[in-house]
Amino acid sequence: MNQPLSVDLSGCWLDGHGITQAQFSQLAERLENARDETTVTDVQLMQSGQIPVEKQPLDGRFYQLPELLLEGYREAGSSSELARILSAARQLQDSSEAVVVLGIGGSYMGAKAILEGCCEPYFNELSQQERGGRPRIYFEGNSLDNDAIQALFARLSGARWSVVVISKSGGTLETSVAFRLFLESLETQFPGEVCQRVVPVTGAEGKLDSLAQDLNCESVFRVPEGVGGRFSVLSAVGLLPAACMGVDIIQLLKGAAAMNETFRKMPADQNPVLQYVGAAHLLETTRGMDIRVLSVWSKMLESAGLWYDQLLAESLGKAGIGATPVTAVNTRDLHSRAQQHREGRRNKLIVNVMTRSIRTDRLSVPERYDDQDELNQLAGRPVTDLLMAAYEGTNLALREVGRPVINIELESTDAFSLGQYFQMMMLATVVEGRLLGINPYGQPGVEAYKKNMRSLLGIV
Ligand code: PA5
Repeated sequence: MNQPLSVDLSGCWLDGHGITQAQFSQLAERLENARDETTVTDVQLMQSGQIPVEKQPLDGRFYQLPELLLEGYREAGSSSELARILSAARQLQDSSEAVVVLGIGGSYMGAKAILEGCCEPYFNELSQQERGGRPRIYFEGNSLDNDAIQALFARLSGARWSVVVISKSGGTLETSVAFRLFLESLETQFPGEVCQRVVPVTGAEGKLDSLAQDLNCESVFRVPEGVGGRFSVLSAVGLLPAACMGVDIIQLLKGAAAMNETFRKMPADQNPVLQYVGAAHLLETTRGMDIRVLSVWSKMLESAGLWYDQLLAESLGKAGIGATPVTAVNTRDLHSRAQQHREGRRNKLIVNVMTRSIRTDRLSVPERYDDQDELNQLAGRPVTDLLMAAYEGTNLALREVGRPVINIELESTDAFSLGQYFQMMMLATVVEGRLLGINPYGQPGVEAYKKNMRSLLGIV
């Protein structure tokens, strides 16, 4: 039985520097209204197609995706989107020792978070057999880094490989240029096989869609209408790469659906999404805490933190407001940031994301005959105990000086838990946008660099 993700706000109830439970209760009605706007009003508006100008763009369909995909799988079986994703992933696994996922921003960050959270830490270094026959997974098309691309070509040399190219617009320059480079290489190395070795995930009618048709790609997936790039991790954008890695995508969706259920039903003070947003919003607006430090307590969650960085920054960094996200990985970053978190400007909210579970045998501190490092006093203590002492010690150190902390606890970093986390953070971002009066969808500010870049290159 999977455990629900939990949020603990006790680290926010601080005299003088934090917020009070009374403030949270006063905000509860607005939080619940914003929740109903997301789950009822926005859904009706999208269904009717009558979206008022002030709400455009309204890319809120991510909310229903988990249930829709699971329902489609149950009812339509092999012709469902999920069955098609699973079948394309199997085909890629059978034909490829490596898969290159080309995409940028919302078109790859979720898949990277899934790889790090759910797979072995050194996945690509394992033998094919140790990976259970799954291909090595590489991410490109997310930079214009000559040497990084060349290094990947060298890694692929002599291997059977394929490409999953992901772009909702189908015209993002970084991804398109990388695709051209990798396509040329595929055509040279595997003549006649490109239609199987390229799987595009794209919106309808873009340049990538027409290229996919010209290439006769056997499988093409859609980024669903009404799902924005950074909200697309639980569509084919994240699910196809995840299925290639051998991750249980049904569990990912079940975790997200469980979060939806809780989000719909629970009152603000017991609702993980609303607890998190309510406290973060109050701390930002009443205490000026506009730096949001997502402090993850497992190396396997670093990319899940970076995925949220993008989600928060691109969704709410508008009209001169919106919290600035930062990801820290502990205990590593305690040795670079803890000083500032405890004694620097009081503009930082620490949001811990942690799990107590481990997947492998428990390591304990060994006893040593010379005790030269005087660690025999810890002999026999599990490394997990040391981590928990660091976690609790850090929280205490922050509390002592009135520094607010929100704790988010995941059961593990498995597919179900990550599904809960993704859905929670996407819903939280939309609710937070509604509280701030900011449309969380769209990213007009990103267009400026793209336009300038194209003009400097002299292309249309
Ligand atoms: O959230 C977003 O919409 C963006 O981050 C996009 O995902 C990113 O710009 C890539 O766009 P595209 O998928 O169209 O190539």
